[in-house]
Amino acid sequence: MKGMDKLSSKLQFSVSPGGSLIGDVRVPGDKSISHRSIMFGSLAQGVTRVEGFLQGEDALATLQAFRDMGVEIEGPSEGRVIIHGVGMHGLQAPDGPLDLGNSGTSMRLLAGLLAGQGFEVTLIGDESLSRRPMKRVTEPLALMGAEINTTPKGTAPLVIRPVDGLRGCDYRMPVASAQVKSCLLLAGLYAQGETWVTEPAPTRDHTERMLRGFGYEVMQEGPRRGVRGGGALIACDIDVPADISSAAFFLVGASIAAGSDLVLRHVGMNPTRDGVLTILRLMGADIEVAKEREAGGEPVADLRVRSAQLKGIRIPEDQVPLAIDEFPALFVAAACAEGETVLTGAEELRVKESDRIQVMADGLQALGIEARPTPDGIVIQGGQLRGGRVDSHGDHRIAMAFAMAALCASGEIRIDDCANVNTSFPGFAELAGSVGLQVSVQND
Ligand code: S3P
Repeated sequence: MKGMDKLSSKLQFSVSPGGSLIGDVRVPGDKSISHRSIMFGSLAQGVTRVEGFLQGEDALATLQAFRDMGVEIEGPSEGRVIIHGVGMHGLQAPDGPLDLGNSGTSMRLLAGLLAGQGFEVTLIGDESLSRRPMKRVTEPLALMGAEINTTPKGTAPLVIRPVDGLRGCDYRMPVASAQVKSCLLLAGLYAQGETWVTEPAPTRDHTERMLRGFGYEVMQEGPRRGVRGGGALIACDIDVPADISSAAFFLVGASIAAGSDLVLRHVGMNPTRDGVLTILRLMGADIEVAKEREAGGEPVADLRVRSAQLKGIRIPEDQVPLAIDEFPALFVAAACAEGETVLTGAEELRVKESDRIQVMADGLQALGIEARPTPDGIVIQGGQLRGGRVDSHGDHRIAMAFAMAALCASGEIRIDDCANVNTSFPGFAELAGSVGLQVSVQND
């Protein structure tokens, strides 16, 4: 396994400069919704059928974790998964630690969901996940009576010990994080009384929507969300939309590549996720939204994007949580825009799969762009990208963002350490190649 990791960490993308993105495609399923479909389907009474499931390593890590806890899950096959729910109290202790790979969502949501199960379980992850902050979930869970050990630095492995029971809490979150909110609401399903969370700014609400879809009441009072413990989930069917976070690379690519005209089908348009559209439009992007409809409790639409001359902007801080995963792609848009783009209020980017502020600044500088990191953001001066070699630091979204940068560069861009693209976007190079990105994948 160690040898394999080493080999795959050498996966490299080489992308020839120029070209346009032209075509009509559907990117893979939404990662956040895919994770939650497995979690709620497993705890439900009855059989949950999922379509459009993301067969990427992160969502598959969640799926495997529930199999390890005794849930029968068929598939995935072409995005279809059938989950035979075991009910709220039907999970069994796994034989060993649950390995969640690169997936922060799996670890933080499972920490909440497993805190009140009554068996001991250990959550582990890869090198990147083992560096990410977990106190943001273990501390509020401790207020609810959970017993979870971390390393002295507050990182994984998380050892979750059985306790007599959890009690509800009323927690004001210091960071705008859907993972923390979801973790506490999931723990709240098993707690006595009511569990309330207040978020400092709106974050993605897939947990609340899907809980309601499974028949569980989620209470809402302004910025507070709450659940009452002791209820049940009833199985339902889930149609997972295409992931707007994966579509974002194509929205940026088609905007910066002259002569592009690209349609992206069935994209999730949840208003807590659409910051990338707002920000790109403020920069002058040409994006049309068509066939707005609803699929399984989530808004979806088809997007048509054509090339446009982008301009630098000051990114509104209220858009940060609504576009939190899209900044690597947006920084590439800023590098190709006329003038300066300024981002503030985004310190969270430093604790994602990599330090996305530093890693993007380093890569953009290597490609001849003036990019100045600040403690909570970045200042990017639009200019001419040149060819060169950049390191993604094993971060899927950094790798895909720099692949798109080649569309606007004067020379070839080589990107190291791209294997983790499979965590969120299996088949990225093939799909991007099919609409005009001149990308080849090497394993050297
Ligand atoms: C996610 C929430 C976000 C996001 C992550 C997925 C989720 O993290 O970055 O990719 O599914 O809840 P935070 O809520 O910690 O910002």
